[in-house]
Formats: sequence, structure tokens, C-alpha cells
Amino acid sequence: MSKRVKTAVFPVAGLGTRFLPATKAMPKEMLTVVDRPLIQYAVDEAREAGISHFVFVTGRNKGVIEDHFDRQFELEATLEARGKTRVLKELQQDLPSAGRTSFTRQQEPLGLGHAVWCARDIVGDEPFALLLPDMLFKSRRGVLKQMMEAYEETGGNIIAVEEVPMAEVSSYGVVGRGDGSDQSFRINGMVEKPAVAEAPSNLIISGRYILQPEVFNLLADQPRGAGGEIQLTDAMQTLERQQPFYGVKYEGQSFDCGSKIGFLTANVAYALDRDDIGDDFLAALSRIGLQNRLMDGFRVAAE
Ligand code: G1P
Repeated sequence: MSKRVKTAVFPVAGLGTRFLPATKAMPKEMLTVVDRPLIQYAVDEAREAGISHFVFVTGRNKGVIEDHFDRQFELEATLEARGKTRVLKELQQDLPSAGRTSFTRQQEPLGLGHAVWCARDIVGDEPFALLLPDMLFKSRRGVLKQMMEAYEETGGNIIAVEEVPMAEVSSYGVVGRGDGSDQSFRINGMVEKPAVAEAPSNLIISGRYILQPEVFNLLADQPRGAGGEIQLTDAMQTLERQQPFYGVKYEGQSFDCGSKIGFLTANVAYALDRDDIGDDFLAALSRIGLQNRLMDGFRVAAE
């Protein structure tokens, strides 16, 4: 039987240059989709999947992430005094349990592979989940939970993948499809940010992983790859020759909140879906003429 996955790693050291000036003094992981920071969505997803230990690889200027996952007594007392018990309860529910968070720092921005490697001593000799908070998923069941169900059957290493138009593959890690079904298959090779002509498929790595700890040894002396950075994909590519790697096509819709378009689209999609503000938001959109444009878009798409 495969070892249970109890720990999740969240690399949150990135500089967020694509969102300047918003991210000059504030971590990009604290950007909000409606009223929740991106990092909270990732933690919620991990919790739904049964994760009990939350490891954050932070950097300079990221202290507010640590504060976000702590109690805030003054705020709680004020909410209590004002009778705002529902908000108060929700805030408390968002927190991981005491002693279940760990923070370490990536001292230099050397790439995702290096950030993951920085978590090696905290994770130890255990399989772990890895969630990149830039990628947000709207799904009935959380994407990591779907992957955990697959992991219970197969063990090994699992990567969430999705198909994108071929023209977009160069922004991502890309996997080759081996044996299996349409939804779940053995991965056969992977490459980070390939040129379109060199991509093995249009299946991209979607920012959710279940990995075995041997990846840390490979990351220890992983040479720099795409973009001059130590790439996780390169270490996984080596590991794939030694251990099984599976691709899982998850059910749900992804938003790449590392890009402005993805982030803005996520805000619209999540806001429209909210019971408390969805209708009012749609009415507000229609007042700025957007509803008609959207409906035109749907009509064109349906034709
Ligand atoms: C990282 C990974 C890449 C993956 C992507 C998903 O790239 O290196 O393989 O497809 O996240 O968001 P980054 O977005 O950090 O450039």
C-alpha cells in the first residue's frame, strides 16, 4: 500500500513581477479572488484532500502570509463585540490547526526546483503534495482530492495535467502521454517551457503534484534549466526513469492567476458564482455594458 500523503508544500517565494506595482510590498499570493487571498484557496484545497501539515517556502517580504495563517486577537475581539459571529467563525475555520504550519525561506530566487528543495528537511522521507498557488481551480471536488483518489490506486508520483491550445505550451511544463486511459495515464517524458515544435503534447503541468521524496536528492544537484532556473520539471524527468509518474486530467476549470487575464477572469467567475453578490455583480456588469458583450460572445461561441 502506498504511504499516505500528509504534508503539502506551497512555494510562495516568487517576486510577482507581472503584478507590479501591486506586488511591490505585498506578496502576490495575497492577491484576492473576490475576498479570499490566492494562498487561502490553495490551503483550502489541500485541507479538503486530507493534508494535515502545511509547509510554506517563503522569501523576503512574505511575512504577511505567516500572519494570515495566525490568530488576530484584536480583530477577533472587535468582531465578537459587534456580534459578527459568522465572519468570526469563518476566519477561525480558515486556519490550519495549531502547530500544523511550517515556514522556511528560499534565500535566493533560483527557481521552483530550488524552492521545493528548500522544504526537504521539513518534509522528510515522506511523499508530499505540492500546490502552486498561482493556479486556481474551480471544481466540484478539489483537484488535489481527485489526485489523492488516483494515488490511492496507483501510488507513485502524480501530476495534474490539462490540455491547452498548442500555441500556449511554451509557458508551462509539458508531459508526454504514455499508456492508460484518456483521464489517467503513464507519463512518458516531460519538458519545461518547450518551443511549440519540441513539445511532446499539448498536456501541461497544472501546478498540482504528488511526489515521492527521492525528488529531493535529484534537486540537490540539478543543473539550471529553462530560464536559467533550477527546474522541478528537470528533476521529475530524471525521476520518471526510476519511478512511475502518472498524469491525471482533473475535472474542473483552471485559472492561471500568474497572468493578469487569468487572474481577472477568476475574479469574474468566482464573483458571479457567489450566492451573496453574484446577482448584484451581474447587474453591475450589465450597467457597464458588459453583460450584452458577454451574451454576444456566448451566442458566437454557440453558433
Ligand atoms: C511552473 C512550472 C511549470 C508549470 C507551471 C504551472 O512554472 O515550472 O512546469 O506548468 O508552474 O503554473 P512557472 O509558472 O513558475 O513559470
